[in-house]
Amino acid sequence: MYVLGIETSCDETGVAIYHSSHGLIHHTLYSQIDMHKDYGGVVPELASRDHSRKLIPLIKASLEDSKLRANAINGIAYTAGPGLVGALLVAAATARSLAWAWQIPAIGVHHMEGHLLAPMLEKEKPDFPFLALLISGGHTLLIRVNALGNYELLGESLDDAVGEAFDKTAKLLGLNYPGGAKLAKLAEQGKPIASFPRPMTDRPGLDFSFSGLKTFALNTYHASEKTTQDKANIAAAFQQAIADTLAIKCKRALKQTQLTTLVVGGGVSANTHIRTVLSDMTAKEKCKIFFPRPEFCTDNGAMIAYAGCQRLLLGQHNDLNFTAHARWAIDEINY
Ligand code: KG4
Ligand code: ZN
Repeated sequence: MYVLGIETSCDETGVAIYHSSHGLIHHTLYSQIDMHKDYGGVVPELASRDHSRKLIPLIKASLEDSKLRANAINGIAYTAGPGLVGALLVAAATARSLAWAWQIPAIGVHHMEGHLLAPMLEKEKPDFPFLALLISGGHTLLIRVNALGNYELLGESLDDAVGEAFDKTAKLLGLNYPGGAKLAKLAEQGKPIASFPRPMTDRPGLDFSFSGLKTFALNTYHASEKTTQDKANIAAAFQQAIADTLAIKCKRALKQTQLTTLVVGGGVSANTHIRTVLSDMTAKEKCKIFFPRPEFCTDNGAMIAYAGCQRLLLGQHNDLNFTAHARWAIDEINY
């Protein structure tokens, strides 16, 4: 079964073709970063319009590059939420229209289920059940994954998501949007300042809070001489505090659930330092850890094509009354 996957939930237009037995056939991504960076963040209306401009040409090019005709496609998967509603509607309307024209089923995929299943696109795949840590620009989630479509939310961020905290801290250090990866680069030149807190680790529970850490970084910056080295030290301390906090909470969740496999996904899981700290923790705990390749940590069409394919194989699909959900809890999609 060939599945066309479409992702337009934020500032990336992702298109991919996944085959149920042959795996990923093709994937392509158009990033809108250059368009949004002058505004310091994503402008929703510009994002929607650009998705509309780019999506059909990307689908055409994907079919051509894969040497597939449209009638080879057996199903379409699109991100139905959560995300920017106007942006989501571009994929939803396009996918539904193509599915109607081609007389094939279409399915709306939860963006975070896409991130959660992204490691399944690699050669070495995790076995169910596992613990998933999803760290993106909009979400920080700890999930017990019992099976495909069986997700139990164990913890989440009570305020800023990890990626949001990275981007806001990057901004205050003078780094352009989206600052997460740039902050990580700057941190390489720094020596972490020890005083940064590890929020909510000294009390029980699996929820997170990162907005205080961002304020701590701001106050430390104002109290410093604001040199390049000061900025690098703050970046390193911030990144270290995030990595340690995530490792402490994941270790706690692994113990609590008695699971022995950790899957990490979402844009921030591309961060090398966080990958190292989490891998060291799982090695000590004699647990396995799985990450997507860095390009599938951030938003992409491949993870949507994969997740949609699994659901289509189970006979699921949506009817013509499609909707896009700006907010959508991951445990609402259980079946
Ligand atoms: O998953 P994603 O592409 O989009 C959402 O679903 O939100 O995640 C984007 C987030 C942004 O906040 C971005 O700054 C962050 O992931 N990010 C990183 C790195 N690469 C992307 N944060 C820290 N280190 C990185 N290397
Ligand atoms: Zn994402």
